[in-house]
Amino acid sequence: MELQRRAWVRGIWEALKEILLQKLLTYKLRSSPLILPNHLATLNVIVTGATSGIGLQTARELVMAGANVVMACRNVNAANEIAQQWKSEVRQYGRTLNVKVMEVDLLSLNSVRQFAVEWDQLSMPLHILINNAGILRMGERQRFSEDDGIEEHFQVNHVAPALLTLLLLPSMLKATTWRVVSVNSLAHHWGQVDSKGWNSRIEEHKFSGTKAYGSSKLVHIMFLKALAINLVELGCNSVQCIAVHPGIVASNLVPGFKKKAFWMLDTSEGARSVLYCATSNDVVDNLDKGFAYYSSNCKPGKMSPLADKLEICLEIWEETLKILGLDDKYLSTSQI
Ligand SMILES: NC(=O)c1ccc[n+]([C@@H]2O[C@H](COP(=O)([O-])OP(=O)(O)OC[C@H]3O[C@@H](n4cnc5c(N)ncnc54)[C@H](OP(=O)(O)O)[C@@H]3O)[C@@H](O)[C@H]2O)c1
Repeated sequence: MELQRRAWVRGIWEALKEILLQKLLTYKLRSSPLILPNHLATLNVIVTGATSGIGLQTARELVMAGANVVMACRNVNAANEIAQQWKSEVRQYGRTLNVKVMEVDLLSLNSVRQFAVEWDQLSMPLHILINNAGILRMGERQRFSEDDGIEEHFQVNHVAPALLTLLLLPSMLKATTWRVVSVNSLAHHWGQVDSKGWNSRIEEHKFSGTKAYGSSKLVHIMFLKALAINLVELGCNSVQCIAVHPGIVASNLVPGFKKKAFWMLDTSEGARSVLYCATSNDVVDNLDKGFAYYSSNCKPGKMSPLADKLEICLEIWEETLKILGLDDKYLSTSQI
């Protein structure tokens, strides 16, 4: 209870800081290019939710920098149109782009499994997985995914990206260096770790979309941290799992965020920290047992004190494997 209260207070402070100072804190970064390294042409990258907002800008920058990018999207028509548009933009310079669209609907775990099978058939190592797709349904009633019966925030923001990450791990381990980036949120500070709301209906008056969003983001951070620690303990030294808050960004996430207020970041500013976490070598120096949390100013940020509690992270890990129907010894018994 005390921990939850401290998390709330820190959340209020972090949100105030973001609203008042995010423009200032990211000001210096404006003049620097979004992508620094020049080794991207050799990298295979998957970006989920690349049809809109931060994911679209992130994918675009990576594609333009020469990476081999898979746009993992549920709206494949929209994604194909975007990819065609990028290709026609550079055609006049005689350039070709390595971008491919693959379908995944995070509201269906079977769709995630199908995506992983199709990825496997490409027989490529995966260097960077960017779990960007997310939803926030403010002021709406609780909804459960049709196929899996999981509350939709938990499904899209935590359970489905967790499954995707686990299924793609063998491909990532084929690469010499690999990284998982979760586009997370400072809203995780208001999250709770109670797993009751994941797949069972709570009384409607107790449900809040904003709270479910924060909780789904919090448990995903904790899952990622537990994944990194478990892999390190199994002797895997290449693990790099990073959660990043991109800033408060004008996007399609919630209707009220579409129009950009003066203190908000635009989507390319929002993509900057994501790209930094995906590509910068400096991030490695700040990893603790394979994990780090970053803020919109491309610096390590402060997580909820709940996420510092290893035993709670491991509980979330177990709950997640349980809901996915995976054995709790999944990492040690699979080909990993
Ligand atoms: N905007 C902010 O201020 C802010 C702050 C902190 C964190 N974030 C995080 O940043 C990430 C990107 O958000 P954004 O602001 O760029 O929002 P956005 O413009 O709404 O983009 C969200 C993307 O996720 C995709 N998506 C949603 N549900 C999906 C599903 N079931 N299966 C596959 N893809 C799905 C959307 O695809 P469709 O077009 O098909 O719906 C869209 O491409 C999210 O994880 C969000 O939580 C955003």
